[in-house]
Amino acid sequence: MDRQVIYADLNLSRGSCFASSSPPSLPQDVCQGSAWHQFALKLGCTAVILLTLTVIGLSVSVIFLRQNSSIEECRVDVQVNGNETTEKPNLLQCPVHWHLLQEKCLFFSHASNTWKDSLTDCSAKESSLLLIQDQEELRLIRGLIYKKEILFWIGLNLTLSEKKWKWINGSFLNSNILQIAGYNKESSCVYISLTGIVSENCDAENQWICQKELKPDRNKICSKF
Ligand SMILES: *[C@@H]1O[C@H](CO)[C@@H](O)[C@H](O)[C@H]1NC(C)=O
Ligand SMILES: *[C@@H]1O[C@H](CO)[C@@H](O)[C@H](O)[C@H]1NC(C)=O
Ligand SMILES: *[C@@H]1O[C@H](CO)[C@@H](O)[C@H](O)[C@H]1NC(C)=O
Repeated sequence: MDRQVIYADLNLSRGSCFASSSPPSLPQDVCQGSAWHQFALKLGCTAVILLTLTVIGLSVSVIFLRQNSSIEECRVDVQVNGNETTEKPNLLQCPVHWHLLQEKCLFFSHASNTWKDSLTDCSAKESSLLLIQDQEELRLIRGLIYKKEILFWIGLNLTLSEKKWKWINGSFLNSNILQIAGYNKESSCVYISLTGIVSENCDAENQWICQKELKPDRNKICSKF
């Protein structure tokens, strides 16, 4: 019931408002009827203003919601890409001369250097010496080594104090997963070759492998929408 009344008022007062604005000489006749008419006029004008504000408000919230939902899509996308099984290669781009291997980009040096200098070179390339997660990764990386005699330093050396193998990311080697053959004195660093994972004096000169981990960044993905 109330609604009907308001709609009626709205119609009535709209007419009045428009009438009053076009001929400036007439407003008194049109808008100054009975007290009820004046009330209706005010109510009507208020309703028009409220309506306008509502429309503006709705538009703003629609825009806001759209932005929000695209952020949501980005999040979903990042999660999906974090999952190995649904990897999207077009989002994972390695620099030129780097090899894509799962979620890593690998750089195989042609030069030879000491372990320390190899470490420095990888840092200069905004990467680190290779870290190997497990046997499967080791197998895949060996598959990329084409010559038997080439030895590549990786990011693993012997700590002087604990006499334990330590990855350059700070974790100790889990010897249940990977075993090191060879030299095991102070100043031991580790290389991989087609034949295995072997340690050698850190001052020996070998080629080396740097890695960059691929984490698709949100901005790149969002710019696709
Ligand atoms: C990928 O996602 C599925 C389900 O969402 C999950 O079962 C699977 O373990 C995930 N794989 C990896 C490598 O995270
Ligand atoms: C360091 O790298 C090793 C080999 O990939 C990995 O097992 C270990 O979880 C890493 N540790 C950290 C803290 O990321
Ligand atoms: C082993 O690597 C660490 C960095 O992870 C380095 O500080 C340390 O000097 C290295 N040890 C040798 C003997 O090169």
